[in-house]
Amino acid sequence: MKIVLIGSGGREHALAVKIAECNATEKLYVIPGNSGTKQVGENVQINQDDHDLIIKFCMEQKIDLVVIGPEKPLIDGLADKLRNEGIKVFGPSKSAARIEGEKSFAKKLMKESKIPTAAFEVFDKDNYDAAIKYLHKINYPTVIKADGIAAGKGVMIAEVFDDAKEALRECFINCSFGSAGDKIVIEEFMTGQEASIFAITDGIDFILLPAAQDHKRIFDNDKGKNTGGMGAYAPTPFVNDTDLKIVAKEIIGPTLNALREKGMPFVGCLYCGLMMTSAGPKVVEFNCRFGDPETQVILPLLDGNFVELLYSAASGKINKDAIKYNGGASVCVVAASGGYPDKFEKGFVINGLENVFPNANVYHAGTKELDGKILTNGGRVLSITSFTEKKNVIEAKRIAYEALSKINFEGMHYRKDISDKAF
Ligand code: AMP
Ligand code: GLY
Repeated sequence: MKIVLIGSGGREHALAVKIAECNATEKLYVIPGNSGTKQVGENVQINQDDHDLIIKFCMEQKIDLVVIGPEKPLIDGLADKLRNEGIKVFGPSKSAARIEGEKSFAKKLMKESKIPTAAFEVFDKDNYDAAIKYLHKINYPTVIKADGIAAGKGVMIAEVFDDAKEALRECFINCSFGSAGDKIVIEEFMTGQEASIFAITDGIDFILLPAAQDHKRIFDNDKGKNTGGMGAYAPTPFVNDTDLKIVAKEIIGPTLNALREKGMPFVGCLYCGLMMTSAGPKVVEFNCRFGDPETQVILPLLDGNFVELLYSAASGKINKDAIKYNGGASVCVVAASGGYPDKFEKGFVINGLENVFPNANVYHAGTKELDGKILTNGGRVLSITSFTEKKNVIEAKRIAYEALSKINFEGMHYRKDISDKAF
């Protein structure tokens, strides 16, 4: 099979490695890719927003399958355009991608289908007074979310009324999130452990991959600002087999049915962010794609034919036996640039990448190659990811940090407590 993978982050490097190692893969192109994906496939310098050029390339190269990594091309309708040309795509249509692109759409769909999630209300920019009135009568803390995609910054937790009022100002008056903040969701604050579950689906049937736990805050013990993700591990003990059955029956199945009934079947990876509350799992958010850095820790746990899984889902009849959980564990630690998630400098040489790490992979995210050297080129620079054959998260943590200790660049920052919640 000739496969195109769209994207350029750590998630895409991990996907590229997994796709390239399948016998079914004859050729892998990555658009635009990064200095890591180049080691396993051929990077093609097309901007991922240039849909016409991507389609032209796929037609000319007679591509059998396109796998779309990031949300933006999905929300912008790249999957629809490729399908219109008869190309198979792993990734949802523009309308199904609304489940990530519009939080109010996801919340309303969950309410209609009685899917467990935080109680909520939706307000438009011109309902400012009604929103304030609502904020006066609810319990705190509360959560205020910009409706649209706001680069991971659109979720604000308000401890008291004044914080909530300030969050409203940010969205409606200061327009800090642009048009993404023209509408907001105010929702009940939930407590519990968070987990990420990926459902691979053909729109009707699905399989769940092992559950992972992300670490979104910049500092240890979940302190400091939210980031794109500072590390993850899988499987997480906070989701047992009974929980997985509940998630399949009460959350994933009904969500896929609801989308299908609305005429927008979801084909691809439905990412379900969960809060494991005392009343059972509840949905925090849906994403329309694989998560980053959860993908880095989930893929090493899958044995079998990953390409067959994606291709069969994209073809409308998922082969649920294509892969299986191999019984292992994996930990990913993100090495970030000093200053991230605020301002940071780029262009520092990354040392130590020539090391060979037994049972660990170093996935590239914010890197670039210049004159034979690999330099930092983004906030989250590398995903250092270990795996163990047995389900031993402690050992997986040790291996990941040992590999990390051999790598350095100026200002490198990472969390020291990735996976600690598991034990
Ligand atoms: P989201 O972008 O929706 O995943 O939100 C980012 C983070 O905000 C989540 O990972 C949670 O830690 C937190 N969060 C979002 N919604 C809620 C909620 N209703 N209750 C508690 N925490 C939340
Ligand atoms: N790890 C969070 C996300 O991919 O959105």
